[in-house]
Parts: sequence; structure tokens; C-alpha cells
Amino acid sequence: MSRGLEGTGGPRVDHRPTGTMRAVPPSSSSQAGRRSLWNERYRSEPSRYGDEANQFVLEVIGPLAAGRALDVACGQGRNAVWLARRGHRVTAIDLSDVAIAHARRLAAARGVDVDFSVADFLAWDPPAEGYDLVLLSYLQLPPGDRVMVHRRAVAALAPGGLLLLIAHHRDNIDHGLGGPQNHTVLYDEEMLAEDFAGLEVERNERVLRQVDRDGLKGEAIDVLFVGLLRGGD
Ligand SMILES: C[S@@+](CC[C@H](N)C(=O)[O-])C[C@H]1O[C@@H](n2cnc3c(N)ncnc32)[C@H](O)[C@@H]1O
Repeated sequence: MSRGLEGTGGPRVDHRPTGTMRAVPPSSSSQAGRRSLWNERYRSEPSRYGDEANQFVLEVIGPLAAGRALDVACGQGRNAVWLARRGHRVTAIDLSDVAIAHARRLAAARGVDVDFSVADFLAWDPPAEGYDLVLLSYLQLPPGDRVMVHRRAVAALAPGGLLLLIAHHRDNIDHGLGGPQNHTVLYDEEMLAEDFAGLEVERNERVLRQVDRDGLKGEAIDVLFVGLLRGGD
């Protein structure tokens, strides 16, 4: 997975006179800055996270029936392409056009169709019918963006739909391997319980991932959340 410094900037909050804090939408200029940061990362490392699906995506989604899936911030498409090969109808979006170009090539090479778009998820409206599966894999967002992205991810679920999130755990900096070295973009179980309070929780826990890549060997600490939107059949 990711290595080195991966931070996406500090939290952006509105300090109101009451002392409460509220997430504010990112400006288009700050999103443009993030796009060029991610583009630069993907240009300097053409297969940054590899082309094979994440192990927890395989574990959780492998046994499920195929449906309509949304891969939020799909990067270079490793999970989206795997989902399509499993028969899911996949929509996948990412801020980085460099990553999406790689993802399109990967889908073509593996003979699957994925509806890829270059888009900011914070300005992207899901179709009204929603998705049976929403995947968030290793987003690294400061608190304001994290809360808004998670709110939108829940809103993109169809009744009965499943949300799967896998991310670098807050403890990874001190006790794990690789990943962002900026606490503000790391997650833990408490944050996820709060962000996804509207979902029925199936899993919300620390999980370990074996890393053996580019001279790094050991365990990375991730957080895995799986939640269901009540409703449907
Ligand atoms: C660490 S990468 C993970 C990529 C992919 N999900 C994976 O697991 O391989 C994080 C991705 O989030 C994307 N991203 C960050 N903010 C975003 C936003 N607001 N809308 C869409 N994509 C975003 C970045 O462009 C980057 O590709």
C-alpha cells in the first residue's frame, strides 16, 4: 500500500463564535491543488498501489452477489476492475485524471467495462436509485472533508446497500508500517462509528495487513468498517 508522506493537508473547519466547528466545502482552488498533488504522485509512481484488489475488499465483497457498485476515489482502478470482473456494474470516480487514465487501461487489459469518471466526490451527485455497494478504499482526508465524503457515501447507498471502508488506522504511525505520516488524515473506530451512525454496523475494527514491498516488510494497521443501510428486501 501507500508509503512515505501521504498527507492531504490539515483540517479545514469553520470556527464559529459559539465555539462549535462545522465542516465547510472545499474551494475549487484547494481541490485543484489536491488534484495536482495526486497527479504528481501517480506520475512519479505509475503503479502506486498495484493492480490487484485490496485483501479486505476480496474478503468482504468476495462472497456477495453482484450488484451496482460505486468505488469512491478509485485511484488507479485496482478494486473497481476486480469488482467488474466479479460481475458488478461499477461506477468509479477519482479526482486524478492520471489515475483514471491508468484505471481505464487496466480495465481494457482485463476485458471489463467500468464507468470511470474524473470527478470530485464532494461535487458529484449519485443517481437517485443508489448503489448496492459503496467502497471507500484508503482515502486520506482531513476531518472536514472526511465527514462530508462519508455523509455523501451513505447518501449514495440504495436501501439494503452495504458500505465498506478500509483506511490507514490512526495507530499506524507509531505501531505500523508505511502509510501517511500525518495524524490528521488517519482514521479510527470512534470516528467511523460517529460518521456512519445511520448504518447498521457489521464490522468496525483494527485489522493488520502484511506489507512486503520496496524494502518494507512488516505489518500495517488499518481500520475496517462494514455497515448496512437498513431497508430493501
Ligand atoms: C490513497 S489513494 C487510494 C486509491 C484507491 N482507492 C486504492 O485503494 O487504490 C486516495 C485517492 O483519493 C482520491 N481523492 C481524494 N480526494 C478525492 C475527492 N474529493 N474526490 C475524488 N477522489 C478523491 C485521490 O485522487 C487518490 O486517488
